[in-house]
Amino acid sequence: MANQSDNIILIGPMGSGKTSTGRILAKEMGFDFIDTDEKIVESTGVSIAYIFDVEGESGFRKREHKELMKFLGKDNMVIATGGGIITHDKSRMILQGHKKVVYLKTSIEKQIERATVSNNRPLLIDTDPASKLQELMLTREPLYEEISDIKIDTNDRRPNEIALEIIDRLR
Ligand code: S3P
Repeated sequence: MANQSDNIILIGPMGSGKTSTGRILAKEMGFDFIDTDEKIVESTGVSIAYIFDVEGESGFRKREHKELMKFLGKDNMVIATGGGIITHDKSRMILQGHKKVVYLKTSIEKQIERATVSNNRPLLIDTDPASKLQELMLTREPLYEEISDIKIDTNDRRPNEIALEIIDRLR
C-alpha cells in the first residue's frame, strides 16, 4: 500500500552514506532520524552479523521489513535503510509506493573506502569486498533505479552537501 507521509527514505548500497547523510538531513528538516540496521540491533540486542549467522539473510530481511513498516506509519521521519532492503519483495513493493525515495549512487571504489573500515557487514566478511560489491551492484542497481524518485551522485561529496541537495530537489 502506498504511504503518502512526508517521510524521506534513503536507499543505496553499503557505503553510500545513507546514515551520515540521513542524520544531517533529518536535523536540517526538523525530522526524526532512524536507521533500520540500528533499530534491528537495538531491538534484538545482538549484531547484524549474529542475526545473519543464526537466522540467515532471510531472517534478517524479515526483521528489516518489520522496522520499515513500523516507521513508515509515522510522520516527519528520515529513514536510512540497509543496502539489501530492495531484495525483499514486500519491502520493495512498499518503497515503490512511496513518493520520497532517494537513491544515493556510489561507485564501487567509494563503497570500498567507506564500507570496509568496520567488520560489521556480514556480506563483506571472508570475501573479496570489491568482487562482492560488484556482484551485488549488478543485481541491485536496477532495483535502486526503478524504485527511487530522486537519484544523487555521492562520489567525492560530503554528507552535508548531499543532504542540502536532497532538500533542494524535494522542494
Ligand atoms: C546489507 C547492508 C547493510 C546491512 C547488512 C546487509 C546489504 O547495511 O543491512 O549488513 O545486504 O547490502 P548498510 O547498507 O547500511 O551498510
